[in-house]
Amino acid sequence: MKLTVRIWRQASPDAPGKMVGYPVDNITPEMSFLEMLDVLNESLVLAGEEPVAFDHDCREGICGMCGVVINGRAHGPEQTTTCQLHMRAFQDGDVIDVEPWRSRAFPVIKDLVVDRSSFDRVIQAGGYITAPTGAAPEAHSTRVAKLDADAAFENATCIGCGACVAACPNGSAMLFTAAKVTHLNLLPQGQPERESRVLDMVAAMDAEGFGGCTNSGECVASCPKEIPFFSITNMNREYLRTLRKH
Ligand code: FES
Repeated sequence: MKLTVRIWRQASPDAPGKMVGYPVDNITPEMSFLEMLDVLNESLVLAGEEPVAFDHDCREGICGMCGVVINGRAHGPEQTTTCQLHMRAFQDGDVIDVEPWRSRAFPVIKDLVVDRSSFDRVIQAGGYITAPTGAAPEAHSTRVAKLDADAAFENATCIGCGACVAACPNGSAMLFTAAKVTHLNLLPQGQPERESRVLDMVAAMDAEGFGGCTNSGECVASCPKEIPFFSITNMNREYLRTLRKH
């Protein structure tokens, strides 16, 4: 496949950025999107040019490091991580636009790399438990209802990639925060901080400059782990329940 990729190039956080077009050749349909960027970078390095900076780590869809806006969609045309998107999703001769996550709370560091430490601070506000854990307990010693266990696990699959924020017209982090709140608040080990967790994580989310939720649902449509919209409903309920008690 022969393609043209138009990529956001920005040398540093304060430098102006612009889209720059590059031809890319010898791309096979089996390559991942990141491998296509590797091919581009090899050619840029050989030509003595600055390679494109982009984030990645596991390349297996589990770490949440990768993430770019491809043709206007977070992670591109398929509901998966950028590293799990393959070039067979594109046609020979396509022109592909690649941009960093666009959000005030995710400032661009360089090219396609953004600073997602705002997510870390939301987690630090309440995305933990203080119950002693130790070795794995006997499975039946703390009983968890099947529906709660399933929902907690479903929410625990959030990898914090930030696609929900990038896709949301408000730059809201509600789906991310709701996944963490729901995951921990449903489990017995999460009960000691159940109330402070939701209040503190929502406050941290607002302080970081993430927008509010207006139920557009773009977050759910772009989430590679398919975190359900119900998680946001659940977080709102937890929040109101806690507010009413205090
Ligand atoms: S590089 Fe880890 S999820 Fe894509």
